[in-house]
Formats: sequence, C-alpha cells, structure tokens
Amino acid sequence: MDSAASEWSFHVLTRTFTEPNAAAKWAEECRQSGESIGFIPTMGALHDGHLQLVKESVRENDRTCVSVFVNPLQFGEAQDFESYPRTLDRDAALLASAGCDVLFTGELVQFFPEMDGDPSRTDRIREVDPGPRALGLEGEHRSGHFEGVATIVSRLFELIRPTHAYFGEKDYQQTLVVEDLARALGSPEIRIVPTFRDDSGLAYSSRNARLTDEEREVATSLSRGLFTARRAWQGGERNAERLVALIRDELSSPQLSVEYVELRDPSKWERGPLVGELTTARALVAADLGAARLIDNLALDGAAPGEPAE
Ligand code: PAJ
Repeated sequence: MDSAASEWSFHVLTRTFTEPNAAAKWAEECRQSGESIGFIPTMGALHDGHLQLVKESVRENDRTCVSVFVNPLQFGEAQDFESYPRTLDRDAALLASAGCDVLFTGELVQFFPEMDGDPSRTDRIREVDPGPRALGLEGEHRSGHFEGVATIVSRLFELIRPTHAYFGEKDYQQTLVVEDLARALGSPEIRIVPTFRDDSGLAYSSRNARLTDEEREVATSLSRGLFTARRAWQGGERNAERLVALIRDELSSPQLSVEYVELRDPSKWERGPLVGELTTARALVAADLGAARLIDNLALDGAAPGEPAE
C-alpha cells in the first residue's frame, strides 16, 4: 500500500441503487474482477439481527450487497404489507456502518420485466415451487407465503449471482426452503446465521417495532418457552408431548394468540410434527401479539448461543 493511500481511513461508502438492473451490472463487474460477492436479501427496517448477516458476509467476501424490498408476493394480508415498516435512509446508514458496499431496492415491475411495467399483471410472474419443506407451519398458516419467498429469492439470485447468500436461523423454515432452492439452481452457497436476541432473549424482528412496551415483555415468553424446553431436553426429557406442554405453559398470557407449537426433524420435515420419544428436535412457535405476528425456534438438541442469564 502506498503512503498516500494509507492516510485514508477505509470507511466503506454504501452505494444505493434504486434499479435492480444497476445492482446486477455492479455484480457482473465484481465477478469480472474476480471478486466474491456476499448477498443478503431483506425487507428493510433493518435491526441488529440483519446486521449480523451483513457482518458475516463482509468477513467472508470481497463485496457485500443487500437488497431492501418489501415483497408483496409473500404477504397474505394487504394490511400487513401496507403497514410493514419502511426506513430506507436509516437502513442505508446502518449498512454503511456495517461495511456493506451496495444497497439496492426497486419496484415489483422492475424485478419482473415480464409484467411490462403494469403493476396489476402479477399473473405474468412464473411462481417458483418452494418444495416439500414449505409444507406445514408457516406454509400452512400463511398461504402462498413460501411461493412468494421462493419467487423473489430466485429472481434476486438470478440478478446478483452471488457467491454466498446469508439467511437467519430466526426464519428457520425459510432457510430450508432457500437451501432446497439453491441446490436446485446450483448456486449460491447458503450460509445460515444464528438468531440474534436481545438481553431478554427476544429475537430481533422488524415487526417488534409494532409492540408496545408491555407487549415486548409478553413477547419474551416465546424464547422463554423454547429455552425451558431445551433445558428439559438437556435434563433428559425426550417426550414430544411433554416438551410441547412446557413451551405452551410459558405462552399462557391472554394477550398471546398461539398459532402453533411444534417439534420437527428438519431431515424428515414433510412427514409432519414429531410425537412420542425423540432422538432429535427443533421446536418452532408462532403467535399473534397485538399488531405483530411473532415467530421463534430453537434446536433442543443443539448448543444454541444467546440464552439470557438466569
Ligand atoms: P427479513 O424479514 O427482512 O429478513 C431478512 C433476513 O434477516 C432473513 O434471512 C432473516 O431470517 C434474517 N433475520 C431477521 N431477524 C433476525 C435475527 N433476529 N437474527 C438473525 N437473522 C435474522 O426474511 C425476509 O426478510 C424475506 O422473506 C426475504 C428473504 C428478504 C424475501 O423477501
């Protein structure tokens, strides 16, 4: 490095593209220069959970790119889509501090030129099959959700053609769907980043912004239930029904409307929830609380970081 260059501090400036094709062109140039690209698809309203994925990508790749797009194809209720938090300027500032090179966004018609610029022509978008691990849980309770995720994620992969793509364990079933998708496409390599939690154990989520202070308190019962079940597993409990009951006990607040509590084996996902005596288990929960829908999950048989101190 010459002395003039060393006088500069290597503060990364995040470039923002409002046109997906501009990001695709940037990525093509990176590839031609032999640089590896880490990619993190998001819906924005970024928080510390998202930033863990960005930091992991910055560590592993020459270049890091983040998309911010609130994808209408994966929302069931128009209300949830419309009220989804949008904070692009703040997102850009956070990404710059995390060392991200490029942020891009765009309109649905820009991601799908086959719509011919007409926002009503979603019928022209070829839906991507999310595969068998989209069955049950989120796939059952949010009809069409994983079709929407698989469709946008494959389009994003086509545009950026990243070396690695980063997804959070927080959306566990989504990681399975995306792994299957990437396997079918032949790339990229998928990296799964552990769920990032605050000191109370609550998993960071863009939808937490919709919770009141009192609801935030109630929201911690999801992770409390999961950690209770994991402690029971560590103590030798292997019965599925008793483990589920331990989690449900923590979810007894009348403010919570529980959608599901299930134990699953990721490798035998399509066969449904685990029952009886177990050798492996991941516990997954979903509940409505006030204006937010919360999900969380934990491997009962694995070492998972982030358990709050007693
Ligand atoms: P979004 O909810 O914005 O999440 C973007 C990525 O951040 C996902 O991979 C998600 O699992 C991860 N993430 C969110 N909270 C996290 C936490 N507390 N710890 C670790 N990772 C966390 O997931 C989506 O967007 C969309 O479905 C998308 C993949 C962008 C497709 O539209």
